[in-house]
Amino acid sequence: MKVTIVGAGNVGASCADVISYRGIASEVVLLDIKEGFAEGKAMDIMQCATNTGFNTQLTGVTNDYSKTANSDVVVITSGIPRKPGMTREELIGINAGIVKSVTENILAHSPNTIIVVVSNPMDTMTYLALKSTGLPKNRIIGMGGALDSSRFKYYLSKALDKPANDVSAMVIGGHGDTTMIPLTRLASYNGIPVSEFLSQEELDKVAADTMVGGATLTGLLGTSAWYAPGASVAYLVDSILNNQKKMIACSVFLEGEYGQSDICIGVPCIIGKNGIEEIVDITLNDAEKGLFSKSADAVRSMNDALKS
Ligand code: NAI
Repeated sequence: MKVTIVGAGNVGASCADVISYRGIASEVVLLDIKEGFAEGKAMDIMQCATNTGFNTQLTGVTNDYSKTANSDVVVITSGIPRKPGMTREELIGINAGIVKSVTENILAHSPNTIIVVVSNPMDTMTYLALKSTGLPKNRIIGMGGALDSSRFKYYLSKALDKPANDVSAMVIGGHGDTTMIPLTRLASYNGIPVSEFLSQEELDKVAADTMVGGATLTGLLGTSAWYAPGASVAYLVDSILNNQKKMIACSVFLEGEYGQSDICIGVPCIIGKNGIEEIVDITLNDAEKGLFSKSADAVRSMNDALKS
């Protein structure tokens, strides 16, 4: 199985590292526009192989899409972060241009691939990738909910003082500080609702910490995080390549589900060899429905910036 990762920066390289180390794919191509950068990252990771014992063949290339041919999955992490003096619309414009040209180049060499969009603003970039390529919706998946859910589980495990792997929880909605919706009502510790162990005040704090989870790390690191984002992409890619049918919150094109249409936003999905195998339309309560509708409005107004 072959995976291409476009963008060999922090998230792309971290993702290549986890995919290689865990043997999720037999072949990984890391591509970047910066001369020699992907080659360097790939060489560094490949020099771990004998000490960590993996057999994945990882190659780095500078903008040579012929080397990405016949990829089963392509991950797009290429893009620029916002710089001082830039408006959000300007950032969307630049990243939209990058995502559009990258998807064209990718599809020229891997017409049947499944595309995982990571570049921000992720829900809008996923929508753009879907509209500009015309691919069926099962083949364009936005990664955000997997990361936000893992952060939610981390904060729940801290509050419960129990292992994160014993916690089950999901974040839906837009992938943004104010648009994501940690579903505290449905979170559980070994099958028992977390509300049995945590007060409403504690649950509200967990949800608030989750929502600013990315910003907290940016404050500490001086740049956005990469280990958890890279591992979250690898988790998603594993479910596709190995047809695991895991339920993962992903940004996907909605056509009536959750009362929304013509938008890509995070909802629970079954992820397997065809990409999005199924959108799981769970019943939200009135408060959650209200939050989802507000989140969709915010994502839609971000999408509007694509038109300008
Ligand atoms: P980074 O700056 O470390 O890496 C981006 C890489 O993309 C750079 O190496 C750059 O040379 C490359 N690049 C730029 N234009 C390109 C092009 N046309 N073709 C090929 N490569 C190109 O950034 P980082 O931290 O890796 O983040 C990447 C993106 O992922 C950002 O947009 C970031 O906001 C987003 N992100 C999304 C997350 C999510 O959950 N969806 C989580 C974390 C980051």
